[in-house]
Amino acid sequence: MKTKDRVLALLEANNMNFVSGQEIADKLFITRAGIWKAVKSLREEGYCIEAVSNRGYRLVLEKDILLKEKIDELITDTGLETIVLEETESTNDDARRLAMEGKSNLVVISDYQTRGKGRRGRSFLSPKGCGLYMSFLLHPTMDISKATRITCMIAVAAARAIEEVTGKYSFIKWVNDLYYNEKKIAGILTEGFTSIEDGTLSHVIIGIGINMYMPPEGFPEDLKDKAGVLMPEGQTSTDLRNRLCASIIKNFMSMYGLGEKADFLDEYRERSNLIGGYVKVIPSGLEPLKGYAKVLSIDDEFRLVVRHDNGEEEALSTGEVSVVKY
Ligand code: BTN
Repeated sequence: MKTKDRVLALLEANNMNFVSGQEIADKLFITRAGIWKAVKSLREEGYCIEAVSNRGYRLVLEKDILLKEKIDELITDTGLETIVLEETESTNDDARRLAMEGKSNLVVISDYQTRGKGRRGRSFLSPKGCGLYMSFLLHPTMDISKATRITCMIAVAAARAIEEVTGKYSFIKWVNDLYYNEKKIAGILTEGFTSIEDGTLSHVIIGIGINMYMPPEGFPEDLKDKAGVLMPEGQTSTDLRNRLCASIIKNFMSMYGLGEKADFLDEYRERSNLIGGYVKVIPSGLEPLKGYAKVLSIDDEFRLVVRHDNGEEEALSTGEVSVVKY
């Protein structure tokens, strides 16, 4: 962690209270000049830090409001257009409409979704001010068979961004759910249009929803045991959603720009919370139930390699099966 991030973490931990220069110096083992340098660079990043003689430093928290200008400021080199909405039905559907109008290379971000979509026809709870809901619309030149790779890429990009911005380590539950504190905090829905002529993806929409704060009325009964939030009660961080959103965009676009050369498989494996454990394999079609299996690894095609009770090994493809942690 850089010195400025350690100073920020200490000021955040003291939520709106002054921390003396002496205390910062003692706790972080840095000089007064080092503190001043860190405060200066944090201010340049947009943090509002008060400095009062004889009292010390205080971080003034702003409300965590999604703002296009702030996101744009942080992602200048990505070449993506951002569309930031207060409310929409689903950012994936917005991206789809824009694709029909011939648009591409953009990301739709919303503070609230009234009909957030999950995988397998499920809905995705997207309450106002509590999460980050965003969908990329891109025009990749790749075969449809590579679509899983993009989905796994965004999972790694989001996990990296979460770590960069909050210092929190999240796990990936194959294929693409993010977990923090054993609870699902993010889901990904990738949708594509294929060209009938050559089977390549003409457009891809990659939607990600992150539960940032607990909804005021809590999670509904059916989600209560599974869903979690990145920032539990009482935890705050200045301008978090804009910074996280920008970091996801930057991390994802830098990998996406490398195309086939993007190397994130090892990190995807390292972040897996399934390898070594047991899963229940649920076929999505008419196949018989396969029962429990031990997870051995994730192969180079992002398939989950499992060993069934009868000793038989199988590489499970996304879309064909889903797994439940056991
Ligand atoms: C899942 O967990 O089943 C996938 C959830 C995907 C939710 C995101 S939120 C942004 C984008 N817009 C949607 O309607 N869905 C995705």
